[in-house]
Amino acid sequence: MNLIKSLTQRLGLPQTSVFLVSAFAATGTFAQSNASLPSIEIQANRVMAPMPPTFYGLMTEEINYAYEGGLYGELIRNRTFKANPHEAIFWSAVGGAVISIDTNQPLNTALNVSLKLDTSKASKTCPAGIVNGGYWGIPVQPKTTYRASIIARAASEFSGSVSISIVSDDGKKVFATEKFSGLTTDWKKFDVTLKTGRGTPTAKARFVITLNQPGTIWLGLVSLFPPTWNDQPNGFRKDLMQMLVDLNPKFLRFPGGNYVEGDTVETRFDWKKTISSIEERHGHPCPWGYRSTDGLGLLEFLQWCEDMKSEPVLAVYAGYSLKGMHVNPGADLEPFVQDALDEIEYVTGDTNTAWGAQRAKDGHPAPFVLHYVEVGNEDWFDKSKSYDARFAQFHDAIKAKYPQLKTISTIGDDQPEKTRVKSRKPDMMDGHYYRSVDTFLQMSPDYAKNYDRSGPEIFVGEWAAYETPFVPWDKRSQKEPPTPNLKAAIGDGVFMAAMERNADLIKMQCYAPLFVNVNPGARQWRPDMIGYDAISVYGSPSYYAFQMFSQNVGDEILATMSAETAVQGCATRDSRTGDIIVKLVNPQVTIEALKLKIKGVAALGATAEVITLSGSPEDTNTINRPRRVVPITRKLRDVNAQFTYTLPANSIVVLKFHAH
Ligand code: AHR
Repeated sequence: MNLIKSLTQRLGLPQTSVFLVSAFAATGTFAQSNASLPSIEIQANRVMAPMPPTFYGLMTEEINYAYEGGLYGELIRNRTFKANPHEAIFWSAVGGAVISIDTNQPLNTALNVSLKLDTSKASKTCPAGIVNGGYWGIPVQPKTTYRASIIARAASEFSGSVSISIVSDDGKKVFATEKFSGLTTDWKKFDVTLKTGRGTPTAKARFVITLNQPGTIWLGLVSLFPPTWNDQPNGFRKDLMQMLVDLNPKFLRFPGGNYVEGDTVETRFDWKKTISSIEERHGHPCPWGYRSTDGLGLLEFLQWCEDMKSEPVLAVYAGYSLKGMHVNPGADLEPFVQDALDEIEYVTGDTNTAWGAQRAKDGHPAPFVLHYVEVGNEDWFDKSKSYDARFAQFHDAIKAKYPQLKTISTIGDDQPEKTRVKSRKPDMMDGHYYRSVDTFLQMSPDYAKNYDRSGPEIFVGEWAAYETPFVPWDKRSQKEPPTPNLKAAIGDGVFMAAMERNADLIKMQCYAPLFVNVNPGARQWRPDMIGYDAISVYGSPSYYAFQMFSQNVGDEILATMSAETAVQGCATRDSRTGDIIVKLVNPQVTIEALKLKIKGVAALGATAEVITLSGSPEDTNTINRPRRVVPITRKLRDVNAQFTYTLPANSIVVLKFHAH
């Protein structure tokens, strides 16, 4: 019996996923191989399966102020005054002005309220108007152009001008100011440019609108955008987009998550209400406790994919909402199925289709590439057990019109039989894994071992390791920092390695949630990958762990062997370059020396690249200390097909060998 076989049998592990590991010598150095050391063996001549090209992606929904106060560039909070039916929350009156929500003569049915600003009794010495503090501040960058859009009307007696300004919180500094006039008794849109001068960036600022004479005006929409990613109108915050692009994502799963389902059928992500110009978007309450303007609507999600060179994984509403409501399969569900078909046409149809033409009208004539449609989100929670029949109805309709599309069903984590759809075979099943670090460490060596290799394929559409005693939805986790520490990233690392080893079956995966606004009160879930406030952004150690995995991956899964070590890992090869990419995760608080063997290559380059993320388990990144834990890249020399390598304690290490 050979060594590998005996080890795999002893550990009860499949040969394809076992790592042969041992102890080692000096940190980060190569030494002559030592026969007594345990080892990791990479079998470069044994390709287990192709590595799916779309393996690493992103999952997104409106949670933790991910879009409003996050990726979506809008700086004005409650820009359409619909966040509260009774008062203009996030707005305040200054200079003796009186403000109220007005339902008379609205702009349209989508923006069916306005803010009435009455300065007739205002003080003569101080300009009267309104102030908006943005999403925890208006970010001011020096020498920058901001674009304001204001839809307003005035009482017939008002003939004055309106000033708009970005002003410091203490009112002492005006960063930029402009004015416009020409208001009439009918609604009219005013586009105004604000330019800041020299200075230092700050978010201690607010947006102020004042009238130069007493009178009454109504505001239907007040919008302010900084420069956006690719200068797109209604676009995205640049620094957050850069963070995402740096993850090299191949797909974007949207719009949820719970966000696609909504608390009720009425408050689902109703995509048809999220397109056209922003003044035609109703907005809706999001299930995470605040209102979305739907400024980031279906076309913006698609644009976001295009900007990242990723493909959409489109989740369609499937007739189940979080408060336990469901739509009965059959005739009742038919309008929702038709909505999904229309949505797919909006995404993929050419301009001679009805919804393709609408997309062109909305500004994007070219269709988007789409391969995957997910039917619902965690619909297995539906206690009425209607998901099987609902899935069948969606699946049949989608396949009839779009046979090339792959359908994804939702399923409970660990693929339990009882949460599976049975009346149809989905092309893929989406299971979610939020697990403690310890659970990931313990389950990852055997992960997916017993899954049926004949399919359906698997999508891990949400996952994350948490390192606190609290599950992600536990309110007690509010006391913990918003983003995870290095210990959590180690948990992420072992699970990602397990998913890579099983990528013959697991075709796509994405961490969730992606974003958290770190201001008090903004968070509903922990841990989250990327933290930000109005002006700064940082990646958690989990962000960098994901980046190390997603940026360094080949197109072939290689056989690997290991034993009797806590180190877990995986290996792939890039068939175009011959590079062999080995990922190792050491969860121990001690270093680990390994004898690394690379078998089955004719020649190995004398140097290799090593990327290391390591530190103390509790090390982390924050807004004020964003780069405490980041990967370090260096070169290794004198590489051999067999050598000893020392993994630092608490580390994720990517080794890139050049092989021929
Ligand atoms: O990622 C946060 C939530 O976790 C998602 O909205 C939901 O799908 C899951 O329960």
